[in-house]
Amino acid sequence: MAKTKKVKFKESIGLDIGNHSIKMVHLKKTHHGYKLLNCESLSTIPEGIEPVYSDLSPDRYAPILSQLVKTMKLKPKKIKHLVSSIGGDNTSIKQIRTIFLPDEELESALFFEAKKHLPISGAEMNLDYQVLSVEEKTNNMNILLASSTKALLKEHSHVVTSADLTPGIVDLESLAVANSFILNSEKDDGVYVILNIGAFKTNMVIYSSTSKFFARDIAYGGFNFTKDIMKKQKKSYEEAEVYKLEHGLEEREIDSKKSSLISLDVTEKNTTELITQEVKRSLRFYVKEAGSSDFRKILLVGGSANLRGLSEYFTEQLQIPTEVFNPFVNLEDSNRPGTTNDPQFAVALGLAMRPE
Ligand SMILES: Nc1ncnc2c1ncn2[C@@H]1O[C@H](COP(=O)(O)OP(=O)(O)OP(=O)(O)O)[C@@H](O)[C@H]1O
Ligand SMILES: [Mg+2]
Repeated sequence: MAKTKKVKFKESIGLDIGNHSIKMVHLKKTHHGYKLLNCESLSTIPEGIEPVYSDLSPDRYAPILSQLVKTMKLKPKKIKHLVSSIGGDNTSIKQIRTIFLPDEELESALFFEAKKHLPISGAEMNLDYQVLSVEEKTNNMNILLASSTKALLKEHSHVVTSADLTPGIVDLESLAVANSFILNSEKDDGVYVILNIGAFKTNMVIYSSTSKFFARDIAYGGFNFTKDIMKKQKKSYEEAEVYKLEHGLEEREIDSKKSSLISLDVTEKNTTELITQEVKRSLRFYVKEAGSSDFRKILLVGGSANLRGLSEYFTEQLQIPTEVFNPFVNLEDSNRPGTTNDPQFAVALGLAMRPE
């Protein structure tokens, strides 16, 4: 979460390679902020074909990425500042607290800590960290620790270079989610929950300028909403996807009774209930860990943030005001007719706005 560093680049490209679609945002740095030059998204899933997660090999992304670069009329060799992201199981981001350690000792202590979250050997691990603060009274340090596997980074670079692009900064997806919110909202002391609801997963980020940073992935997304419809209404994938985009959540789901936190419910849950359950669990964990429950808002981004009825459902079930977040809100010309405010671009935008 880079907040105060100087921005040196003139133009930047944010690239979000999702399992459902690849998103790209092209920004120009201006005196007052950023101007949107272009943004596009292309699906990686052939129309009407039910996606199978295990089929999503990196090789299928490269041709789509090349096509996207062409659609945006970009010359790959002229792109100087490309920021892309990796996420999923082989990445981890945690805020930790440790006694004050000098730099040489800190790195090996952090490797040890990171292994708890990504159980791989030190040689296979990429590690990055940022000291957020040093507590004067206790002399403890608060550190944001990011780790990923070298294999994942290699796979990611392979896709980027296969499209003739030169890999630049690679950030973790949840940090880009956090940045899309931090860099586009007024600062205050409250706790904000950002849900990036994609196709196969949801990144959950809890951010507060005065309290702990938290991020995790929830293993459900837009594809699971479609699957629910396929099952319930006996529709094909294609029909169910069309139905979902048109109708969103059924009225009955929106009106469903508040689930009790204590009682055990053994009936099969649908995707909205499963996501809600996981969000609730994480909120409870956060309150215990961070000692703060000043939740102001839940902000929805990602393609599935557009699902009709979803923000009302979360507001009702989680008792926290929930809304779809427009990540373009602070850009120059953001009111220009035709300018998108699609939350699907939040990660790509968070990446493009990331200071060097
Ligand atoms: N208007 C809409 N209503 C409901 N769902 C939508 C709408 N528009 C897009 N979606 C869903 O959004 C999902 C794609 O979102 P997104 O591009 O954020 O995913 P992704 O980043 O490719 O996936 P992941 O993050 O899981 O790798 C799809 O499941 C699609 O059906
Ligand atoms: Mg995504």
